Amino acid sequence: MIREDLAYRWYQAIFSRYSVRAYDGRAVPWDMQDEIAQLMDGFSPMCNGARAVLLEDGAEEILCGFLGTFGKIRGADMLLVLIGEASYPNHEVAVGFLGEGIILHATSLGLGTCWVSGTYSRRAVEARVKLGDSEKVMAVSPIGFAKRPRKGLGERAVEASKELHWRKPLRSMIRGLPAKDFPVGYLEVLEAARLAPSAVNRQPWRFTVEPDGIAVSAARFELLPMAARRLDCGIAMLHLQVAACANGIRGEWKFLANPPEVAKYVVLP
Ligand SMILES: Cc1cc2nc3c(=O)[nH]c(=O)nc-3n(C[C@H](O)[C@H](O)[C@H](O)COP(=O)(O)O)c2cc1C
Repeated sequence: MIREDLAYRWYQAIFSRYSVRAYDGRAVPWDMQDEIAQLMDGFSPMCNGARAVLLEDGAEEILCGFLGTFGKIRGADMLLVLIGEASYPNHEVAVGFLGEGIILHATSLGLGTCWVSGTYSRRAVEARVKLGDSEKVMAVSPIGFAKRPRKGLGERAVEASKELHWRKPLRSMIRGLPAKDFPVGYLEVLEAARLAPSAVNRQPWRFTVEPDGIAVSAARFELLPMAARRLDCGIAMLHLQVAACANGIRGEWKFLANPPEVAKYVVLP
């Protein structure tokens, strides 16, 4: 379970989060750092196999490169480092789940973030973070104040989110029950999962809607390796569960054994 107060807060943040690549260099105030720090070791059993570390400075030197049309990330000082414990079979999913919870919390505090798994120097991070034998750094995110915050969010959040995010249509990512037979609230839950960020915006997840819940699997035939797709699925799963909690749909995750299946959110009667 995710604490209810966090779920409501994070649900709002789903619609206003976007990847921020230009920061204004202001330091993140201590009280905000404290709130974020409380989530570092996890907030749900789904985070088992992952942990996070906050580096207070040096983000700009670590965020070193370009990716396609995305420019270099500039102006950030603080860096969130997301670490997986490879001996846990579901650690990639856990990193996605934990990282996105922290990122939505930062968003709810008015901070900008950007998942980065490609354009950073792993060596520079490893020089600053002590890792256990089977731990590995899987992604990072700058945390700071956006240089030019996007306006028009707040009350218009749901509408504005359509302008902020390009995403595939929901119908291309769901199967199972026809939409007319969805239990109440399922559309909102799937819409929130659809808005999840993913590496190169590939959105490599599929949702199978069943009468007792929603199963998540990694899309087949993708260029991204399975580990990267599972991390993205973990992000979408965090969105799915947050939206389910906020819409009164209580449930719990069960991992599925046959790849590309990942896990099913089983709704509690
Ligand atoms: C796991 C992951 C890795 C990412 N890696 C990078 C990266 O290396 N560099 C970058 O500029 N953006 C990166 N992104 C950001 C995505 O490009 C971005 O989330 C996607 O285009 C959707 O845009 P949005 O976050 O504004 O909704 C990454 C996102 C995720 C989820």
